[in-house]
Amino acid sequence: SRYFALVPAAGSGARFGAETPKQYLSLAGRTVIHHALAVLCACPRIEEVWVVLSPGDEWWAAEDWSALGHKLHPVYCGGATRAESVSNGLDALAATLDADDWVLVHDAARPCLSLDLLERQLAELDTDPVGGILAVPVADTLKRADPQQRIAATEPRDGLWQAQTPQMFRFGLLRQALAATKTVTDEASALEAAGFTPRLVRSDVTNLKVTYPADLLLAEWILKGRKP
Ligand code: C5P
Repeated sequence: SRYFALVPAAGSGARFGAETPKQYLSLAGRTVIHHALAVLCACPRIEEVWVVLSPGDEWWAAEDWSALGHKLHPVYCGGATRAESVSNGLDALAATLDADDWVLVHDAARPCLSLDLLERQLAELDTDPVGGILAVPVADTLKRADPQQRIAATEPRDGLWQAQTPQMFRFGLLRQALAATKTVTDEASALEAAGFTPRLVRSDVTNLKVTYPADLLLAEWILKGRKP
């Protein structure tokens, strides 16, 4: 089976609070999304990288993508939610992919994925019938809040992991599972709802998602630390 990447990039970045969507903010000399796409394009096993943009996106076309080669396929079919954007992107891929092919769904807002981590995920899941996701065990103690923002309970964190991306699944299974549920916040939940048990591939906290302004500072520090 072959490998394809699908990058949902149609979010508005409401929590970040900037006018430019967070995936187009500048980070270590490039945009956030440029870093996220560069690592996928640099992976030899990944044949094509499809990018789901909002129909009203005015930033993609303003950027020079020539440095990333010929793997990029932008499609302006983003939806109201992440799940909808991914689902629309899978529809666009349907003419090209077989049910057994792999799709790696990766956030445009996750710019620090390393090639090492990506290769490890491909190797660990290669022969899996379903697929799995990068994730890290939860490090902090978890509190459930009551409506007055007081602690109602302390949740045991044993066995709890934080989901990251790439989320890597067989195309046929992923498409079916997402068609059945449009409310999920990640692809794995759709597979779970369909009765599958996706694998957890251990990642690390450097593969962060840019959500708040401080994440951008951390990302810059992580990326700069990698270059000699
Ligand atoms: O908002 P959040 O950080 O969860 O978004 C994760 C990824 O999903 C981002 O890359 C964002 O651009 C994308 N997204 C999308 N379509 C939406 C909402 C989010 O492609 N409607």
